[in-house]
Amino acid sequence: MDANSAKKAAAQAALKYLSPGEVLGVGTGSTVNFFIDALAAHRDDIPGAVSSSEASSARLKAIGIAVLDANAAGPLSLYVDGADESDHGLHLIKGGGAALTREKIIAEAARTFVCIADESKLVRVLGRFPLPVEVIPMARSMVARELVKLGGEPVWREGVVTDNGGWILDIHGLAITDPVALEAHINQIPGVVTVGLFARRKADILILGGANGVRTLTP
Ligand code: A5P
Repeated sequence: MDANSAKKAAAQAALKYLSPGEVLGVGTGSTVNFFIDALAAHRDDIPGAVSSSEASSARLKAIGIAVLDANAAGPLSLYVDGADESDHGLHLIKGGGAALTREKIIAEAARTFVCIADESKLVRVLGRFPLPVEVIPMARSMVARELVKLGGEPVWREGVVTDNGGWILDIHGLAITDPVALEAHINQIPGVVTVGLFARRKADILILGGANGVRTLTP
């Protein structure tokens, strides 16, 4: 099974968590794009979605699903999103697509967070994928110096501006053995908008597509 087929299989398997008549949260990325494609057949059961990016909003609208403001939607029963890495405890690295801040807001608002991915995203220790951090532009250098003290090598994702007007630093070279503590630490640095570690609010269910079909992990 190639990576796209694996992502598609995971996306398809997430459909069973839909609650007809309820607004859902929808994330960002190539795996979620397969999920949005699969939602088209269920659009009459979906009163609307809260989306984590302008890109996903456009795809949702294209299949006839209304995109709702997060403030108006209130608590969500379900959020479906991809990840750049997951460990076996379902702590995630996200933000490869620069949508981490909105993703974290929606994950926090959701009762159940279903993460969909291909098998290659499952790792023993998080950190091979550079950890994204969204920063307020004027804080970029100061935050980078603080991140160096953590033993990582922050690299500015130059030219990328998030949907919120922020910039991204990607931290290379970390082995994240205590994701909850690292998330809390980085969140305390002034100028940090969000760190792409989803540890305190991790995924509840991880659906992985791979050569042997789909498997579901819980923490
Ligand atoms: C977006 O900012 C990320 O958090 C995505 O969820 C992540 O990059 C997964 O993307 P793919 O589904 O394209 O691998």
